Amino acid sequence: MIPIKTNEEIKIMREGGLILAKIIDQLIEEVVSGISTFDLEILARQLIKEYKVESAFFGYLPDTSSGSNQIGYPAVLCASVNNEVVHAIPSKTKILRPGDIVGLDCGIKYKGFYSDMSKTVGVGKIFPEAKKLIKITEEALMRGIKKIKDGIHLGDISEEIQNYAEQNGFSVVRDLTGHGVGRKLHEPPVVFNYGVKDTGPILESGMILAIEPMVNAGGSDVKELANRWTIVTADGSLSAHFEHTVLVTKRGSEILTQK
Ligand code: MF3
Ligand code: CO
Repeated sequence: MIPIKTNEEIKIMREGGLILAKIIDQLIEEVVSGISTFDLEILARQLIKEYKVESAFFGYLPDTSSGSNQIGYPAVLCASVNNEVVHAIPSKTKILRPGDIVGLDCGIKYKGFYSDMSKTVGVGKIFPEAKKLIKITEEALMRGIKKIKDGIHLGDISEEIQNYAEQNGFSVVRDLTGHGVGRKLHEPPVVFNYGVKDTGPILESGMILAIEPMVNAGGSDVKELANRWTIVTADGSLSAHFEHTVLVTKRGSEILTQK
């Protein structure tokens, strides 16, 4: 069952989404050569405190972790550099250098409801290929979002994202997905970044989705590092990630994580 939000819940998620958009944008403004990804974590913690919201990520354990030795996520921010796809734990020894690309992913809880957002940016001057990867990933997200309205199939979004990334010579990660979001960080449905139109559940207004293409410059395969969190590309190629929390409406959609 995909939860349908009431107008009151949507109002809360609109406010929470706006706060998260401000947090992500303030973090992006601080991205500069010479800082560590842990410096960004510190700033994210300050902003979360200032806006009087809670971290959605700190201590997070996936439902699938029971019986595994995985630890709760130890930070409020994921800061994934270059070949790191998602879920890279901020580190004092991970120093950003010119030419790097960094994906900043943050989630908050506000008045009982979650929002989830990510953006990827370059550090200083980056190679044209990296610039293209970032642009195409963001455009894939926006094109997927433009498909949304009451009555479409979820697969319509997935197919659009996959086609756009692949037409541009890149590949989409298949082992990780977007998701519904609301009273929990991860709710049904699973939002694949690949698929076939006219398949999957039919969207209805009031559903809220976190859509998050992860696009690799090389192959689609990924692997998990020994810390049980960080996901990297199997072939070492660059990866970019963009994510918005989006409301399905009668005529289209509304991006909640936007200023
Ligand atoms: N945006 C990521 C996701 O939806 C965040 C994962 S939660 C974390 O999967 F705690 F692992 F960061
Ligand atoms: Co997410």
